[in-house]
Amino acid sequence: MTILVTGGAGYIGSHAVRALQKAGFAVVVLDNLVYGHLSNAETLAVPFVQGQVGDRQLLDQLLSGQHSSCGGERVRAVLHFAAYAYVGESMSDPARYYRNNLGDSLVLLESLVAEGRRRGEQPLPLVFSSTCATYGIPEVEQIPIREDCPQRPINPYGRSKWMLEQVLADFGAAYGLPSVIFRYFNAAGADPAGDLGEDHDPETHLIPLVLDAITGRRDNLCIFGNDYPTPDGTCIRDYIHVCDLADAHVLGLRKLLAEGGQHVYNLGTGHGASVQEVISVAQTVTGRLLQAHIAERRAGDPPILVAAAEKAAKELGWRPRYGELLTILEHAWTWHQRRFGKQ
Ligand code: UFG
Repeated sequence: MTILVTGGAGYIGSHAVRALQKAGFAVVVLDNLVYGHLSNAETLAVPFVQGQVGDRQLLDQLLSGQHSSCGGERVRAVLHFAAYAYVGESMSDPARYYRNNLGDSLVLLESLVAEGRRRGEQPLPLVFSSTCATYGIPEVEQIPIREDCPQRPINPYGRSKWMLEQVLADFGAAYGLPSVIFRYFNAAGADPAGDLGEDHDPETHLIPLVLDAITGRRDNLCIFGNDYPTPDGTCIRDYIHVCDLADAHVLGLRKLLAEGGQHVYNLGTGHGASVQEVISVAQTVTGRLLQAHIAERRAGDPPILVAAAEKAAKELGWRPRYGELLTILEHAWTWHQRRFGKQ
């Protein structure tokens, strides 16, 4: 059974491709390589197509199995990771985010419906990568955040994901498009094999920046605010191992293939860690000290984002394998040393 993975050369997408391969699925990756890496597709030895999710002709060919990369096999379902995900950039250039994350995704959804019709079936099922950024800045009493927490995204990135969630609900109601929406909390870590991991350019995420600063690849690390209403004053996030995210996608896909429907799940551990705690664990894992500097708060950072993750556990049987922050940092460190050399 062939699964199309958009954004499969990116960070989370590449780990999901490996999870699908291990689960016995055939996979085809579609990625425009704006932020993804061809080397990930090569590492995974997966059929790869460079292209846009908004290219309807290409999508129709891929879904119907007429594209040369598919070996004549029709696609059974799609995992849709492809997106731009820089919050700051989304504020300075929202058009780019709405076109890519929303406009191109709409083309994909229409292609799923059309291909289903051609087969005389329901639209092809979709697993969609959404984000805790759709919750905006939740009230204190709403933490840990449940899936029914009001969604009030505060930047175009979060809104582009939230809008596609609404489109998916409408496509489900009108055309019967089956979908699973996963709202990721803070994806982190790397495949323990050490050959896949986080590699953004530019890098904005805390854990790789901490490791960069510890190894001297960057001059220092700025802690964005230490006057938040948290025990040590720094922001708290729910760091979830990227392989655990990948596992959830296999479970979500199986659920869609078995019973269809429309489902929304948070993916997090249910436990938060502060910026200071992340730095402290990174020091333990690397055996090195990091002098971090306190800087101004970063605009739009909620003080605390922690998932209520019971729904995915109950309905999908999902249990994070690597729930400890220590393990996440160990795997990130192994990857970091392999990717950037031992410094
Ligand atoms: N941080 C620092 N210094 C840095 C980088 C980050 O102190 O140099 C802090 C941030 O202020 C935040 C925490 O570390 O408190 C985590 O920051 P990240 O940038 O790693 O992650 P975010 O929580 O900002 O972003 C994540 C996802 C986004 C999503 C967002 C929702 O990566 O895609 O959650 O808030 F939009």
